[in-house]
Amino acid sequence: MEFILPLLGRFHPLFVHLPIGILLFGILLVFIPSKTNATFLPSIRIAFLVGFIVGLMSAISGFLQYQQEGYTWDTVQIHLILGWITVIFSLGLYFQFRKAQELTQPLKIQSGLIFLFITLTGHFGGNITHGEDYFLEVLPPGLLATFGIETQTVAQFTLDENSWEEALFYDGAIQPILNYNCSSCHNPRNLKGELDLSTIKGLMKGGENGEILKVGNLKESALYARLILPHEDEEHMPPAEKRQPRKEEVELIKIWIETGASVDKTLAQATVKRTSVQAFFRKEENPFFPITDLKPVSSDTLSILRGKGFFVEQISADNSLLRISCLNFPAFSEKDWKSLKEISEHITYLDLSDTKAPESIIDSISGLTHLTTLKLNGIEIEGKGLAKLKDSKNLKLLYLNSTALTLENLTQLDGHPSLEKVYIFKTPASGQEKRDFSFHLETGDFLLPKLASDTIVY
Ligand code: HEC
Repeated sequence: MEFILPLLGRFHPLFVHLPIGILLFGILLVFIPSKTNATFLPSIRIAFLVGFIVGLMSAISGFLQYQQEGYTWDTVQIHLILGWITVIFSLGLYFQFRKAQELTQPLKIQSGLIFLFITLTGHFGGNITHGEDYFLEVLPPGLLATFGIETQTVAQFTLDENSWEEALFYDGAIQPILNYNCSSCHNPRNLKGELDLSTIKGLMKGGENGEILKVGNLKESALYARLILPHEDEEHMPPAEKRQPRKEEVELIKIWIETGASVDKTLAQATVKRTSVQAFFRKEENPFFPITDLKPVSSDTLSILRGKGFFVEQISADNSLLRISCLNFPAFSEKDWKSLKEISEHITYLDLSDTKAPESIIDSISGLTHLTTLKLNGIEIEGKGLAKLKDSKNLKLLYLNSTALTLENLTQLDGHPSLEKVYIFKTPASGQEKRDFSFHLETGDFLLPKLASDTIVY
């Protein structure tokens, strides 16, 4: 007969809906306007009496479930206390309604109060089964942020390429993988299969069917064995309709079990190979403008340059590199290059379009180490020395529109280490037969929208 109590406990999710429905019906009658103010009194009494009885059944079954199913007091306490308050309160209200000849103000207030208790009890009960983020999960993050609610997003597991060997196998790899893939259902609040995978303690303890890890034995380690079951298999983890771990993650769990499931070894000590972890290396962010430790150019120097006719500005407050343009300096020629020499390391954006710069300017430019964007539109050059630009290892965008550029000369740039795009509208090269380059070629002749910076007068 041992099964009786757990069985009763499991009826809790069914019972709870009865008092909710019946008490709410009673409360509804309290607030429905009626002619005599006493019309519904008999029905209200019945509703509160029956509500109390089924409420008591719910509270008892809930208590049994808490006792039998391994919930912690911390998890259930608010729900349990509120539940019992609701039950006792409904009995008290029943007695008051039995005495009452009509609906008085205090009765209405108390009915409103019990409504509040039912709602809160239900809400905290839902939190236990569905998790606290149940409602929040489906809301757009932007909306949540507006209300100052931070959504906990567990990050996908990554490793640092330069120091991965020193990462602890368990804390630095296995636990993050479990956090990302399993902990939403296997945590102390949401103990699916009575299994907590949010800590090593929980993992070692196992689930409702006992231990899930047998060191060195993959078949008997449910922790791994369930992951590689066919998706159709009921026991496949995570459940087939949920997001699945990457195959490299499953593989790493396998290696962990095979190599002794150690808690204090690093990846290197467990002889994990680089090939097993390289899928997790964080992709370095590649900022468009290089990050340097160059000091900002003095404002005196900048004023002198502006005085000569250059447009000069720092690209941002925290990056000392400079944007230089000859937009309103069409007379710029080779000899003016000298004035830029002093700041050549700082130049990251250079626009010499429509100036008198000669073919040989490319020679001078090739020494700019931090140059990312070079605009030579409308200059009389064929691009003879373009090969030299291979020394500018940060160059990403090159504009050669309306020049005398030939395809042959352009070919010198093939294999440039960083060049992403070359613009060659209205050049002899754009008409010639295309071939594949290491960079993208823009040959079309469409109009570009005018940017504010195109018309700056300084
Ligand atoms: C969407 C919810 C969900 C996710 C995510 C999930 N599981 Fe489960 N898991 C369950 C449920 C429900 C059970 C109990 C039913 C069963 O045994 O199949 C369970 C049971 C298990 C068991 C058996 C415990 C026992 O002793 O019976 C293991 C082992 C397990 N999961 C491992 C994992 C691992 C590892 C992951 C992550 C890679 C994972 N689960 C992700 C819902 C989930």
